[in-house]
Amino acid sequence: PRPILLTRHGESMDNVRGRIGGDSSLSESGQLYSRKLASFVEKRLKSERTASIWTSTLQRTILTAHPIIGFPKIQWRALDEINAGVCDGMTYDEIKKSKPEEYESRRKDKLRYRYPRGESYLDVIQRLEPVIIELERQRAPVVVIAHQAVLRALYAYFADKPLEEVPNIEIPLHTIIEIQMGVAGVQEKRYKLMD
Ligand code: G3H
Repeated sequence: PRPILLTRHGESMDNVRGRIGGDSSLSESGQLYSRKLASFVEKRLKSERTASIWTSTLQRTILTAHPIIGFPKIQWRALDEINAGVCDGMTYDEIKKSKPEEYESRRKDKLRYRYPRGESYLDVIQRLEPVIIELERQRAPVVVIAHQAVLRALYAYFADKPLEEVPNIEIPLHTIIEIQMGVAGVQEKRYKLMD
């Protein structure tokens, strides 16, 4: 059976500052992860000539994929992080202080809450449909380097988690989630490459 490897991008400068959205590059630690991920992928998929690397169109995933050599890379806009609309670039604290009603509505229903001029988790789940169809069709392994909200949705699909849980699934940084789809169902392994 062919594996699907899911990972968030390495730690970004905005992760360090606690800002959501944006299009920042990687921190030192994020860059270290990109190198560790590359050695892992090259070892794990050594014998898999047709594997591919999928990223979003945002810098932090493209930079994370950068040290991986020998596999084709494909950028998907559908893998971009949830669009936080008017809250893009803010910290949760800033949102709480300057847009308390937004903060509260999201807290009450994180799955359905749509950021003004942005997206909800339900929107993200919907736009991921073509990615999921393509992933299901692949015969070769795929490494998906994406973002927390997007990976929550993808992971929930493969691990068969209920919709209501999607916005709160933990997808830690610097960890690879390997999904194997076989006759016996879906199996999962995690590799924490660094803290
Ligand atoms: O930037 C967005 C985060 O990766 C998703 O976090 O949906 O838990 O606020 P959240």
